[in-house]
Amino acid sequence: MLTGNQIRKEFIEFFEAKHHKHFESASLIPDDATLLLTVAGMVPFKPYFLGQKEAPYPRVTTYQKCIRTNDLENVGRTARHHTFFEMLGNFSFGDYFKKEAIEWSWEFVTEVLKIDKDKLWVSVFTTDDEAEQIWIEKCNFPKERLVRLGEDENWWAAGPTGSCGPCSEIHVDLGPAYGGDENSKLGDEGTDNRFIEIWNLVFTEWNRMEDGSLEPLPKKNIDTGAGLERIAAMVQGKSNNFETDLLFPLVEEAVKLTNSQYGRDEEENFSLKVITDHSRAVTFLINDGVIPSNEGRGYVLRRILRRAVRHGRLLGQSELFLYKMVDKVVSMMENAYPDLRSNIDHIKKVVKIEEEKFSRTLDQGMQLVNQEIEKLKAAGITKLDGEVTFKLYDTYGFPYELTEEICQEKEIEISKEEFEAKMTEQKEKARAAREVVMEKGQDSFIEEFYDKYGATEFTGYTTLKDTGKLLSARDGKDGKKLMIFDTTPFYGESGGQAADIGIITGNGFEGKVIDVQKQKGIFTHTVEVLKGTPIEGEEYFLEVDEANRMATAKNHTATHLLHEALREVLGSHVQQAGSFVNGERLRFDFNHYEAMTGEELEKVEELVNEKIAEAINVSVADMSMDEAKKAGATALFGDKYGDVVRVVSVEGFSIELCGGTHIDNIGKIGLFKIESEAGIAAGIRRIEAVTGKGAYKAVKNIEMLLKNVEKVVKSDEANLLDRVEKMVETIKENSKELEELKSRFTQIEAQALAENSEVINGVTVIMKTFKTTTADDLRKMVDYVKDKMTNTVVVLASGADKAIFAAGVTKELTSKVKAGNLVKEAAVITGGNGGGRPDFAQAGGKDATKIQEAMNAVKETLKNSL
Ligand code: SER
Repeated sequence: MLTGNQIRKEFIEFFEAKHHKHFESASLIPDDATLLLTVAGMVPFKPYFLGQKEAPYPRVTTYQKCIRTNDLENVGRTARHHTFFEMLGNFSFGDYFKKEAIEWSWEFVTEVLKIDKDKLWVSVFTTDDEAEQIWIEKCNFPKERLVRLGEDENWWAAGPTGSCGPCSEIHVDLGPAYGGDENSKLGDEGTDNRFIEIWNLVFTEWNRMEDGSLEPLPKKNIDTGAGLERIAAMVQGKSNNFETDLLFPLVEEAVKLTNSQYGRDEEENFSLKVITDHSRAVTFLINDGVIPSNEGRGYVLRRILRRAVRHGRLLGQSELFLYKMVDKVVSMMENAYPDLRSNIDHIKKVVKIEEEKFSRTLDQGMQLVNQEIEKLKAAGITKLDGEVTFKLYDTYGFPYELTEEICQEKEIEISKEEFEAKMTEQKEKARAAREVVMEKGQDSFIEEFYDKYGATEFTGYTTLKDTGKLLSARDGKDGKKLMIFDTTPFYGESGGQAADIGIITGNGFEGKVIDVQKQKGIFTHTVEVLKGTPIEGEEYFLEVDEANRMATAKNHTATHLLHEALREVLGSHVQQAGSFVNGERLRFDFNHYEAMTGEELEKVEELVNEKIAEAINVSVADMSMDEAKKAGATALFGDKYGDVVRVVSVEGFSIELCGGTHIDNIGKIGLFKIESEAGIAAGIRRIEAVTGKGAYKAVKNIEMLLKNVEKVVKSDEANLLDRVEKMVETIKENSKELEELKSRFTQIEAQALAENSEVINGVTVIMKTFKTTTADDLRKMVDYVKDKMTNTVVVLASGADKAIFAAGVTKELTSKVKAGNLVKEAAVITGGNGGGRPDFAQAGGKDATKIQEAMNAVKETLKNSL
């Protein structure tokens, strides 16, 4: 029995042997503006059929990944509906035609796949005698199992216009157990589940024009398509595609991840099949570059992904699980699609983000839908109002399709028209409201932007990773880009909290977010480009630096604790006058009339840390201003609040209005450490502090300092204080001793002076110049001389950079010579001034180089006056 992988391989080899070129599967994103997704094997070849481009090879064969979503509700319900599937195909671009196409398909089905000939049925288009003839004459196909069918069945076109043609289909008859009776024919009513189409041979020879008319194509072509999953089911004897080896391992994986069982209950099977099918679609769409969004392919992906998640919920799995399916999909399909492996991390990341996002929406939305339905049922009403479906979508982000699906399951009517009417109404209202509210500000770019797109949706309270559509990428300074998305998890600087930092990637672009500023609800990200160029209109991943966000949150929550602690320790007059928090530290300004004492600071720090140790939960709630006031919330100085305010509470301790991001439990702060307290303006004090890792680092630094001190003073922690006290004592004693020694030394110097004296007219004159002796020591020497001697004049000088002089005159001589005059003369010569008493005086001058000149002049004066 052939495995799915073998069928794929056999098919390609079969047609290679018939001179077909094997082309790799093309992307699910077609290079074709008229198509959202690749829906058939022929999609990449449309230009060759239409003659717009020359085919590089006349014969091509592929296994093509495809997505079809036109019948999404049925996927999982039936045995054979899929969103993602693989189409085996052989193509002729103006080369062979009907005969070869039919003969080869027959050969492959009967000789390679070895499907029982007796079970095969064939259809041809009503007027296609040629095809019928080939089947009967060339393949010996029994005429009684060949039917002619009309346009609905046997005419194939990729779209309303373009290439098309009659087709011939090969079917397998599963027998009367699946519908009809012994005499039923292919095409009979009620036999859809019995005759399984496995191969469609399209004879593409027409071009449908805008007006509906048909024109012959320049060449006759062949486009065949065989669904791999169906063929596998037929070959492997399974009545259900999901039970083939191509899909069943995924069913089993889904069973494992949702803790359910296959084959026990119809609804359970349905959900398992949805997850199985959708996990492939999701994996492959993301692999080809699609990102969940609210438009186009992104929306297709979002719908499929969300549908799978919802079925996970129906199976009782409310944890994230879908992203885990990706591993299995990749390991099963990487042989055929090798690029899956290299993209696996990316794929899982995208699935997980969207899964998280949707889980949050679901929790809320499901509850609401069910409540509404209960209400209706209780009141005997069978229709859900458009108002309600719209509110679910608008307020809770609950997708309309899901509301619809749930209603269908519960047999409640729902109207898409009503929903859409509400949607239009809302858009108009919003626009009108904006026009009234907006006063034109300085930044006309932001004004115009706001008018066009409205505010950015901030999702960063609940997630750190999100996808966003790039609405604008302007050039900023130094090659940076200023990027605006429809949605962002990045916190824009506000309320004293620094902006988030992080990474933006997607579409070959990579950038580092270094700042985010918020103006009129528009978040502008300043991004350092690492790689590529951002493309407006495309979806990107926005990933906030988690460690920095957490550190910031700790500091922010700690600021609230500090605020309350200050009020408890210093008094309720304390009010916040400003604050700033980032990932590194916190700064809190408050009014208080004097510097805090060491004891007060200690108390505050202790109180905050005591609270942290209590590990109290932090709760955040939106409420009206009145409710918030009633709850006792502290409104922050200078902040403006709308009607609905965000209240952040640490139960039993602090409650504040705040738009910032916080941790969910204050225990996570770990440690709070005040680093400084100072006055910054009259009556305003500022505390700077650190928390968490920052506090740990601060403590570590203190420890390092202590260790270094221990090393220097040669002690250890236990003895350090004792050791330092003793050292201080010793230093005091030593200083005292030194003082005594110095004064003794001065006496000796003074005695030496006396020995160097000269006598002028019977008066002893002592003059000496020192180099670095202080004014104090000069005075002491002068005193000593005056004390010990009579009939003496002493003039001393010293100076390295400045000149200092001291003079003394013993009592008997003061009528003749005045100390004040002597130092004054010397001071003037050295560029200074001074004077003093007749018996003692001190003075100084700026210019030390003139000391000798000054001393000589003094000596002359003495000679003249004695
Ligand atoms: N284009 C046809 C189909 O999709 C045959 O490949 O069925």
